[in-house]
Amino acid sequence: MSSEQTLILVKPDGVKRGLVGEVIARIERKGYVVTNLKMLTADRTILAKHYAEHEGKPFYEPLMEFMASGPIVAMVAQGERVIEGFRKMAGATDPTVAEAGTIRGDLARDMGTKVVQNIVHGSDSPESAAREIKIFFGN
Ligand code: RTP
Ligand code: MG
Repeated sequence: MSSEQTLILVKPDGVKRGLVGEVIARIERKGYVVTNLKMLTADRTILAKHYAEHEGKPFYEPLMEFMASGPIVAMVAQGERVIEGFRKMAGATDPTVAEAGTIRGDLARDMGTKVVQNIVHGSDSPESAAREIKIFFGN
């Protein structure tokens, strides 16, 4: 059986706007199962690990600042091909071009901020998922 897990974050913009329930509802309506969940305010140590691939990019510092700016919700979702499936549900990184019907397309827009605020994060590969789940939930 090939059921897999992914790490999903509701970012500070999503929490501030009261969209935690909306995001979880979409995940559950799709049929994925939330197997672990917590709220936290991420510190630099945890964010540096999570966003290690982006270190040195122009948006790295604004991204770190934004992600530490308030509480986030971290969760693990499980299901067949959930990594690909949730990325599809999240939509494109840029909320202006994210398709209607996606979380970002329906619920986010360009706010003119230094870094794009787009409500959710989802792991992009099985390797990233394993790494990121460990960062937020340990072994
Ligand atoms: P995520 O990791 O949060 O699920 O988003 P993603 O895969 O769609 O995007 P990624 O390339 O991993 O970038 C991580 C987050 O950094 C911000 N970003 N800003 N050009 C930019 O201004 C830019 N590129 C990326 C976004 O907040 C993105 O979600
Ligand atoms: Mg990414």
